[in-house]
Amino acid sequence: MKDFKRYTITSALPYANGPLHIGHLAGAYIPADIFVRFLRMNNKEVAFVCGSDEHGAAITIKAKKEGITPQEIIDKYNAQIKESFEQFGISFDIYHRTSSKIHHELSQEFFLNLYDKGEFVEKYSEQYYDEEYHQFLADRYIVGTCPNCHNEGAYGDQCEKCGTSLSPTDLINPKSTLSGKTPVLRETKHWYLPLDKYQAWLEKWLLEGKKDILKSNVYGQCSSWLKSGLQARSMTRDLDWGVDVPLEEAKGKKLYVWLDAPIGYISATKQWALDTGKDWEKYWKKQENPADDACLIHFIGKDNIVFHCIIFPSILHAHGEYVLPENIPANEFLNLEGDKLSTSRNHAVWLHEYLADFPGKQDELRYVLTSILPETSDSEFTWKDFQARVNNELVAIFGNFINRVLVLSHKYFDGKVKAGGELSDKDKLVLSELERYPKTISSSLSQYRFREALAHFMNVARLGNKYLADEEPWKLIKTDEDRVKTVLNIGLQIAANLAVLAQPFLPHTAEKLFQMLNFQDRDWTAAGNPNLLENDHQLGEVQLLFEKIADEQIDAQLAKLAQAKVDNAKTQTSTAEPAKANIAFDQFTLLDIRVGKILTAEKVAKTKKLLKLTIDTGIDQRTVVSGIAEFFNPEDIIGRQVSILVNLEPREIKGILSQGMILMAEDADGRLDFVAPQSNIQPGSVVR
Ligand code: 2FM
Ligand code: ZN
Repeated sequence: MKDFKRYTITSALPYANGPLHIGHLAGAYIPADIFVRFLRMNNKEVAFVCGSDEHGAAITIKAKKEGITPQEIIDKYNAQIKESFEQFGISFDIYHRTSSKIHHELSQEFFLNLYDKGEFVEKYSEQYYDEEYHQFLADRYIVGTCPNCHNEGAYGDQCEKCGTSLSPTDLINPKSTLSGKTPVLRETKHWYLPLDKYQAWLEKWLLEGKKDILKSNVYGQCSSWLKSGLQARSMTRDLDWGVDVPLEEAKGKKLYVWLDAPIGYISATKQWALDTGKDWEKYWKKQENPADDACLIHFIGKDNIVFHCIIFPSILHAHGEYVLPENIPANEFLNLEGDKLSTSRNHAVWLHEYLADFPGKQDELRYVLTSILPETSDSEFTWKDFQARVNNELVAIFGNFINRVLVLSHKYFDGKVKAGGELSDKDKLVLSELERYPKTISSSLSQYRFREALAHFMNVARLGNKYLADEEPWKLIKTDEDRVKTVLNIGLQIAANLAVLAQPFLPHTAEKLFQMLNFQDRDWTAAGNPNLLENDHQLGEVQLLFEKIADEQIDAQLAKLAQAKVDNAKTQTSTAEPAKANIAFDQFTLLDIRVGKILTAEKVAKTKKLLKLTIDTGIDQRTVVSGIAEFFNPEDIIGRQVSILVNLEPREIKGILSQGMILMAEDADGRLDFVAPQSNIQPGSVVR
């Protein structure tokens, strides 16, 4: 990887519409944090920016579900997400919000810059509209079958299963997520980014220029999109939540969330620069001398590839003043216990719950997730594997080595680093191996191979652990104290190197280790040095680095997931349709509903579903045709009480004039039952 002086590192802005789970950490946050900590240790100038994505249908749909306002939703989840990141040591320089003023202004500035250059194509088009909710259906407000992979839950802007970028009209069998109904098409005006116009430029910049830079999973997705040809994409929406389109004629319209969200990286950097007296433009804008340009890297999950590789770069390119991403190291997905992570099914390990269940064990999760990062293909988290990796690797190798070397140093030499004597061949071999590791780890990190880098790091711990096990200083002490001084000196130098090298991966553990060693040299250049700790250096107090995870803790987590499955199965059978739009009380009082009694009932000839009923409404006796024949025998319902809407416009059904409607309850399986009083109530009584 080319060496840069300054780096702008971004992690995907999570939607502030729910808590984070392990899939988020493994996708865009742990890899970015490891990378950034590594850069900082190499004394690079870094801006590591992130924040909550607080616009788009993801937010408004959640607000509707929870019965609170979008503002309440973003405030609630922004706070929770920020806290989780802090707890896991994700070391953003700023965690910002796209609802901030600085972000709205910058997004509008970007839009106007492109607008003034005449980049947008203005188009009237037919878009899906929910007649019941009086709303256009953009993005997540519409679902249907993906024309590419036939996933039935594809959104109007993207299929998250295959990653294809979609328009609502691409969906097969589209349904409104508001009413569940098939929407109608209505005309509306929008501003489109002509991606087709940038196709040739993208092919050159991305496919030619980044062939050897991008990860193969990212390159593969990009080339297949470019192969199938890009189309103009609307950058505005008919929504009531988001950044206002800054045009008089677009009153009431908002910017597309995927236009404003990546600009969130820039507005976050601007805010950080304001707070710290830095120059944000050095992190984003092209410099006079291109060699001074910052290196921009986006860490994301695979469902965000199209937005970061195609759409945002096209916007930056069209604007002209900004640097383009150097790399976009996207991860694939993490699965959990053989199944996809799912927020809606509650099949997840939520970070706030992990923190409550495993207090102080943030690095344990960081370690396990880094070991299994879905870097090149989807990977799998299981609780048993979590337990095994913590107990057999962190505790038995890393923790055990540190504990042994420190406890013995305290026991034999009052916690002092003793000068070593002459080195044996074995000592020399161990130290030369130690010297080589920082370079090996750097090389993996520079290529975004975090799993591999962590494995090398653990080999340093293995080296130390084996060295002590082979040398057995606890036996040697009886016969050769001088030799023990040498062995423990070497052991302690390995421990100090581990403290330095652990920093990107296990920041809390590295901190503990620095304290235990009473040692502070944190730069990457310190690593590999076999004399990090000077003779007679006084060590700090010993604490346990890691503890074993007990079977009961794992069983409890598995039971939690099993319970979520049961709860999910229950709610699936009782899924209620979403509530309809509010009506005024006056509208309700227009309905005249009465208690009635069925006097006669007979099947309507040549139909399966219809019964002809005579009802005593208290006002009169009238005929009603009702679609209940599949559920009730005529003879069984004579004499039953019903609720009847008596002022419904009469309608002719199969040649019979039906004067009113019987109210029925219908469950998700289509089963019907009467809505009626439980005791005997006089016909004609009012229902309200
Ligand atoms: O997929 C998501 O969760 C989006 N909120 C990611 C946005 S990344 C960026 F562009 F802001
Ligand atoms: Zn698909």
